[in-house]
Amino acid sequence: MAPFCILDSVHAAKEAISEDLCLPTPASDGRINTLNNHGAMKFNFFSKTALKFIDIAIQPGMKVLDIGAAFGEVAVEALRKGAMDYTAIDLDEKHLKILARRVYEEMPEKMSCLKLIHGGIPNGSLFKENEFDAILADSVLHFLDAEQIFQATNQIFSWLNPDGKVFASMGTYYVSIYRPEARERLDRQIDEFLSNPENDPKSIPGFNRIDNNLDLTLDFSSVPEEDIRNHEIRPMSFFSFQEKTARYFFEKAGFDVEEVFYTTIDGFRFVLDSREYVAVIGKKPKF
Ligand SMILES: C[S@@+](CC[C@H](N)C(=O)[O-])C[C@H]1O[C@@H](n2cnc3c(N)ncnc32)[C@H](O)[C@@H]1O
Repeated sequence: MAPFCILDSVHAAKEAISEDLCLPTPASDGRINTLNNHGAMKFNFFSKTALKFIDIAIQPGMKVLDIGAAFGEVAVEALRKGAMDYTAIDLDEKHLKILARRVYEEMPEKMSCLKLIHGGIPNGSLFKENEFDAILADSVLHFLDAEQIFQATNQIFSWLNPDGKVFASMGTYYVSIYRPEARERLDRQIDEFLSNPENDPKSIPGFNRIDNNLDLTLDFSSVPEEDIRNHEIRPMSFFSFQEKTARYFFEKAGFDVEEVFYTTIDGFRFVLDSREYVAVIGKKPKF
């Protein structure tokens, strides 16, 4: 991953103002597309993982990290409710500037509680061991390949304090644009993969590379042209999770996995059967 850069949050907010960067207007379903074609953030919506993360973030003395914070919906809510040590990291600097501006304009007294890092995971040198009490990675790990996901989950594990918790949600292949035969193929391949503990973890099935023939896997024919245009759907590489693979990555990193559950998002374009996302809540054991 590219080197990272720590932003001064007040300076970032002032730059957003001078560059006229502000929160884009949400679509009617609350979606706000990211500026770098990495999915969307939902305005005024909090996933179950985000809500549990916020509950920890607002307790006295807690230090938390939000990976892939985008325009900061979770960050703003946590700071509103009392979070005092909140680090947000994102690949897109403009997202972070907009996040900073939102906090600066609504609660300037909270700017000292907000740390911003422009960069991406995996990156082992981002933080020290045992630094955070909770880490959120909502809708971000599916942008990585299997090897990067292993690195990222291992790093998240090391950055957490003993007893610290990770909250993550990832896209699955139980979405309407996946061809049924591709879903069935993956179900089968994953069961085969998991049945042999000797398999190389990095060969876990689920990654779709943009340069492979994605037409064999995805079918956009059910998506209205206008939706494709409005949402700027462009081909990209991504890892499609399911319950067992989500658990596998986090257990391999050393987490006690407390919960793994499917979830959906209201208004999500590619709804299939309410398993469009899979969430993991894990705890770093004390010893
Ligand atoms: C779909 S948005 C999710 C935003 C927010 N976490 C949420 O759930 O609403 C994904 C965000 O993750 C960021 N992102 C993607 N890959 C990343 C990486 N490797 N490291 C850090 N941020 C990343 C993108 O720039 C984008 O802002």
